[in-house]
Amino acid sequence: MIYDDNLRGERPSFVTHLECAMTGERHEADRIHNLSRAGKPLLVRYDLAGVAKALSKDVLARRAPDLWRYRELLPVRRAEDIVSLGECMTPIVPMPKLAAKLGGGEILVKDEGRLPTGSFKARGLVMAVSMAKALGIKHMAMPTNGNAGAALAAYASRAGIKTTIFCPEDTPEVNVSEIALQGADVYRVNGLIDDCGKIVGEGKAKVGWFDTSTLKEPYRIEGKKTMGLELAEQLGWQVPDAIFYPTGGGTGLIGMWKAFAELETIGFIGKKRPRMIAVQAAGCAPMVRAFEAGEEHAPRWENAHTIASGIRVPQAVGDFLILRAVRESGGFAIAVADEAITAALDEMAREEGFLLCPEGAATYAAYKQSLASGRVKKTDRVVLFNCATGLKYPLPPAKRALDRTKPVDYSMF
Ligand SMILES: Cc1ncc(COP(=O)(O)O)c(C=O)c1O
Repeated sequence: MIYDDNLRGERPSFVTHLECAMTGERHEADRIHNLSRAGKPLLVRYDLAGVAKALSKDVLARRAPDLWRYRELLPVRRAEDIVSLGECMTPIVPMPKLAAKLGGGEILVKDEGRLPTGSFKARGLVMAVSMAKALGIKHMAMPTNGNAGAALAAYASRAGIKTTIFCPEDTPEVNVSEIALQGADVYRVNGLIDDCGKIVGEGKAKVGWFDTSTLKEPYRIEGKKTMGLELAEQLGWQVPDAIFYPTGGGTGLIGMWKAFAELETIGFIGKKRPRMIAVQAAGCAPMVRAFEAGEEHAPRWENAHTIASGIRVPQAVGDFLILRAVRESGGFAIAVADEAITAALDEMAREEGFLLCPEGAATYAAYKQSLASGRVKKTDRVVLFNCATGLKYPLPPAKRALDRTKPVDYSMF
């Protein structure tokens, strides 16, 4: 195994076509697409019988530990189009102290903060930009809550593609700075992410940029799908009992659900699926409201607010896909208050030495809430997604100081 094995040389791609997630209508592969003709997300389809013949678990096990080890299940056809910044497999970190404190079970954190640009958005955007390069796109635009914009800026700059990014005005400073530093034009907008999305949508015809918004572009989901492929492989081709996922636009949740279906079809896993649990903030919980009301779509959540900025998404174009995956899996959607998010973040940092991002902390808060109410069992093996490094977010100041010009009072330690 050599470090860049998966990035060099040709491997067959098994993409057959794209399919409307609502109507099933076929769309041709290798063309520039946004939404389907019905105005819904497009999903990439593969010749999975071909993949099953070309790929075995043993072959995979010998490949370099990065996202590109799954190339047969990804849309990029030519190695020369891959725009990589080192998309490592992310570790699964067990939290034994917290599990024991809560009465058993197994808490595993999938730490996506190790990826380039410090978040799981790298998975989606490395795929979108590689496909944009393959298709000759010259200018990409995107609305973002921060992390996605940072990943797009990084990969697009590397590929020589112009990038214009719009984010809500209160987006964390670090995100806006990294976006700008990584070569994109970034604008703060006095609105929320869907307001930014409108600007991108309208600019499509006027400026001619490509709209890279979540699920309005077909390949980000294929990149996010690798979270499911990787998780199953890391667990010895088993799936956990439940996955707690911080849900905004929902690409990751939908992508993982797609991954498990593809893995079953190629014979790598059995019928068992994890319960998919969509975690939202109490101040922005459109999926929870729709789930509880038994609805197929989730209307806009007005006056959205939460400290977990990544999941402050008032309305999602893939709402029906999120709700479908959650329901088919026997999971549920759950909202947590900002105070519970802060408390969960503090607890894991203090007791396990693991600094979650606020969105990741929301999943731990939701797990505790679900355990207390009996929605998950104490014996369950659960995976919490920490989608970004906690270091990207403003941290509370550490208060203690010592005056070295005075004698140190050692009795206080
Ligand atoms: C840290 C973090 N967690 C979760 C999300 C939500 O991700 P998704 O769009 O896949 O639901 C985001 C999106 O911005 C994020 O930045």
